[in-house]
Amino acid sequence: MHTAMPQTAPVRSGLPSLSLKQAQSIGQSTAKINLWEGAVRSGKTVASLIRWATYCADPPVGGSLVVTGKTFDTVYRNVFGVLTDPAIMGDLAGLTAYTRGAPTATIIGKPVEVITANDAKAEARLRGMTCGGIYVDEGTLIPEDFFTQALARLSVPGSKMFVTTNPGSPAHWLRKKYLLRAAEVSLRSWKFSLDDNPALDPEYVAWLKATYVGLWYRRFILGDWCFAEGAVYDMFDDTRHVVDILPPMSDWLCVSVDYGTTNPLHGRRRHAVRRRGVAVGLAAARQAGR
Ligand SMILES: Nc1ncnc2c1ncn2[C@@H]1O[C@H](COP(=O)(O)OP(=O)(O)OP(=O)(O)O)[C@@H](O)[C@H]1O
Ligand SMILES: [Mg+2]
Repeated sequence: MHTAMPQTAPVRSGLPSLSLKQAQSIGQSTAKINLWEGAVRSGKTVASLIRWATYCADPPVGGSLVVTGKTFDTVYRNVFGVLTDPAIMGDLAGLTAYTRGAPTATIIGKPVEVITANDAKAEARLRGMTCGGIYVDEGTLIPEDFFTQALARLSVPGSKMFVTTNPGSPAHWLRKKYLLRAAEVSLRSWKFSLDDNPALDPEYVAWLKATYVGLWYRRFILGDWCFAEGAVYDMFDDTRHVVDILPPMSDWLCVSVDYGTTNPLHGRRRHAVRRRGVAVGLAAARQAGR
């Protein structure tokens, strides 16, 4: 459990005092994909939106600026609620305008498209666009094909994506395909804890930490990507446990058969047999590092 007090850093007038993590993330978010992840209420959205507002003030030349999120309601509340709040944005709040449900907004005087991702047709809404910058609210709630299509839109030199999210399952595509491949995909991320929000009442923080247990504690307080409780093999990690070649087995313990009439195991085709069987055995002791 975290007990450290938030560290604070001086910031420009008009904006709130920021924690060190918030200030660092704003200053360092110059990668192609910039991801704020971690605990609930930890200050991710505020930091990412201060960064996004400054980005909108001076965007790369050419291309649209886009705000995306699951629904118009969540975007209205999570993004524009903060951008238009003078307590957070100071005088800059008056330069942002948005009507709930509208497809366009103004941020720091710049026109911005608002595109939501809550249905199967969402990805098609992005096709054909050229984007200079994209803000993604709650990345784990966005369909993967929408996110993939959004990245392809960032063809303007210097264009960037800014994403916030709480953690999900370790198997989530956002973690496996992007967070764990940060160097390959030019992603920079910051993991936030409750102590990184300088505005939270310590009593509320202590109550939240004491109240959440199990999966909720690990995901939303510790900010870890972990499996839902009740998962039968919650230690299963497919980066460690899925192999192309089995090690030599010294003992076979069982071979199970997935009996079914829809996807029968013992079909005539050889690949049907390969896909459906489960074999459990003991291999020789693992060598160090393997
Ligand atoms: N530096 C700050 N100064 C003042 N208030 C802040 C600051 N950072 C965050 N807050 C406030 O703390 C609350 C939580 O912050 P924020 O919404 O950024 O957290 P979050 O990590 O995005 O949370 P969630 O995971 O629930 O979306 C908000 O009410 C926000 O206005
Ligand atoms: Mg948030």
